[in-house]
Order: sequence, then structure tokens, then C-alpha cells
Amino acid sequence: MPHKPFKAVIPAAGLGTRFLPATKAMPKEMLPVVDKPAIQYVVEEAAEAGISDILIIIGRNKNNIANHFDSVPELEEKLRQKGDDERLSRVQASTELADIHMVRQGEPKGLGHAVLRAAHHVGDHPFAVLLGDDLIDERDPLLTKMLDEFDKRGGVTVIALMEVDPAHIHMYGAAAVEPTEDPDVVKVTGLVEKPKAEEAPSNLAVIGRYVLPPSVFGILEHTEPGRGGEIQLTDALQELAVTEGEGVYGVVFRGRRYDTGDRLDYIKAIVQLAADREDLGPDLRPWLKEFSAQL
Ligand code: UTP
Repeated sequence: MPHKPFKAVIPAAGLGTRFLPATKAMPKEMLPVVDKPAIQYVVEEAAEAGISDILIIIGRNKNNIANHFDSVPELEEKLRQKGDDERLSRVQASTELADIHMVRQGEPKGLGHAVLRAAHHVGDHPFAVLLGDDLIDERDPLLTKMLDEFDKRGGVTVIALMEVDPAHIHMYGAAAVEPTEDPDVVKVTGLVEKPKAEEAPSNLAVIGRYVLPPSVFGILEHTEPGRGGEIQLTDALQELAVTEGEGVYGVVFRGRRYDTGDRLDYIKAIVQLAADREDLGPDLRPWLKEFSAQL
């Protein structure tokens, strides 16, 4: 079902320190996953969910991202002259996906601060946030389910949650939850950013998809820096969870997700996605078997 009125916001202004030095002069969202930058998968996901207006929050290396979603007439002309229609259509695809806007974050003061930079563009409407380094496999649509839940539950906040190994919960926001009538949806009663394992309310981790009401901007304006000295989106969500008339629901995602901001997950993402592809899989899969037999 198309959800045309929604705009999407993709924060891509983090420093990407886990990926240094690759991210010294290039945002981590531009790292290639097989043959497309990570952020293109995220834009494709939003477009697939019916969103045509996308605002990317960019940091100091803004040109990389802006150029990728812009057309390159001389390259296109070269490919046209060569009759390489396949590559031409792949080059053009990134410019035709959606209406893409950019705004700079200035200083990377945290995800909450990055989202607040979207206030002017989004206005007084609910909107979706998709983290630019968090890939959801297109075979396991998540955002569409979240937008449906948003409609169904009367416009409350909807976040995405995923069960993780309790030993890893300290790397995520963790949710305290109550069940609903739907086994894939929970009511979120509290949230805490990167808790110690013994203090985590559950092993349900917040992952990078959100459907938010515009009231989140007012909350972010007065959200003080929290964990790591950053303005945390999780802290604003915690306020929404306990505010009368608001409320937060979580869609429990059980599909394939790749965190391309983490080096190991990034490598796994490339191998898994390439192994499944028609053009690369038939050669890669037997090689992978041979290689793993030597380990
Ligand atoms: P991360 O915490 O994964 O990004 O933020 P980071 O800070 O760049 O990562 P490391 O730990 O230094 O490697 C989640 C998302 O929020 C964006 C990031 O770009 C990423 O998509 N973000 C984070 C911003 O846009 N601005 C910020 O100030 C912080």
C-alpha cells in the first residue's frame, strides 16, 4: 500500500569512527555494498514503501552523497555512445529513485540532533527515519509494516525492534515492552540507550527505522545530551513513551538486517547479498565453499 504523504529522513552525518581510515574523507553511508553505496539501498527501501520525498542529513563530506544522487551527463553520454544500456540504466537509477533533498547537520551532536535538523523540511506531519548505514533486506519489508501500524494505531510512534544476544544489548537502545494482540507488535513502555547487560529491560534492541510524529521535534529541542555526550533520539522516544496522548509501539523484525557501520557486519552483508545475486552468486557460492573448507 503506498504511503505517499510521508517524507523520509536519512541521517548520514555521523563520523563513522569505527570505519576509520576509510571514512576519513568519505561518509560510511557511501561505502559500497557489492556495487551500490549503502545509502542507495536505504533510499530504494523508502521508495519501495511509497515515499518519494527524502531528506538526507549530511555531514562534512557532503559532496559524495549529493553527487551520487545527481546525474552525470558526461558519463551517461559515454555509456550511450558505447551502447552499454545496462550500465547506463544502473547509473541513472540512483537519480530517479525519489526527490532527494539535503541539509547539513553542522556538528555531529548525535542522532537526535540530526533528526531535529529535519524539522523545517518535514513541517507538521508524521515522517519516517531510516538510518543510512542500516540495511534491511528488500525481501523482508519492514518499513511498509511500520507505516501500516502507524495508520492502524492512530498515529502513534512506531519503532523497529530486533531480538539480539543479551551480551550485545549494550551496543543498542533497549526497550521495555508489553505484548499486544499481534505477536509481531509490542507496546513500548520505556527505552534506555546502550544499557549494561544486567540493566537492560529486555533483549529487544532498537534498530534503524522509525515512524515519528512531528511532536518529536519539540521534545528534541529540549533533550539534553545523554549517553556519550550526544543528543540521543532514544531519550526523546522515552519521553514519547511516557507522555499522555502519545505512545510508542514496536514492530519486532525477524528478517535480514545488515549494520554496515560495523566492519564485521559490513563484510557479512557483502558476502550474503552477493551470494544471493544472479550475476555473482553462481561463481561466488562454490568459491565460498572451497574457501571455508580451508579454514
Ligand atoms: P552511529 O552511532 O552508528 O554513527 O549513528 P557514528 O557516530 O557515525 O558511528 P561510529 O560509532 O563513529 O562509527 C547512527 C546513524 O546516525 C547518524 C549516522 O550517520 C548513522 O547513520 N548520525 C549520528 C548523524 O547523522 N549525526 C550524528 O551526530 C550522529
